[in-house]
Amino acid sequence: MVISIGPDKIKTAVFISGTGSNLKSLIKFSKTDRSPISIDLIVSNNPKAKGLIYGKKYKIRKKILIFNDFNSIENELIYTLEKNQIKMICLAGFMKILSKNFIQKFEGKILNIHPSLLPKYKGLNTHQRVLDNNEKFSGCTVHFVNSRLDSGKIILQKKVKILKNETKNSLAKKILKQEHRLYPKAILKIFSF
Ligand code: GRF
Repeated sequence: MVISIGPDKIKTAVFISGTGSNLKSLIKFSKTDRSPISIDLIVSNNPKAKGLIYGKKYKIRKKILIFNDFNSIENELIYTLEKNQIKMICLAGFMKILSKNFIQKFEGKILNIHPSLLPKYKGLNTHQRVLDNNEKFSGCTVHFVNSRLDSGKIILQKKVKILKNETKNSLAKKILKQEHRLYPKAILKIFSF
């Protein structure tokens, strides 16, 4: 792993597109003594992302980049990350695909959270697909990002049981609650020797 720890917390950017509940849990975690990271930048591709309110609330810089093609904003994004001395990136409900070049540049420093027990159910609409297949369990996964979708090295997972009358929404809610605990735990795991 390429991440090194000095006396200061590791400057981290969180990339979001929507509600930002994982962003909120990461900010809260970052403010604890045991957190190795500080959240110094919020990046969103969606100017209306609800999660942007946490930028205001916690006085964290934000960068909004609206794009279809990642290549069109890549240089500006890299410039912003470097200017803010960002050393780690947490994707949290970020609905855009990063370029290979970008991933290579930050190799080993980009994490993602996915609402399934990877390698099962990569991609979108996970909860419905899990229910359609009559799975007994689902869960969430924090993993490193590589150039293949939801396929990087797994850091930590949490399993949840699927109940008889489970719906897509009840399952999403139950898993999201676990995600809020799992992301900080995964970060602690990376930095424990
Ligand atoms: C989470 O379920 C996450 O696993 C997925 O997108 C959702 C984001 O939720 N990648 P939030 O924006 O953090 O509330």
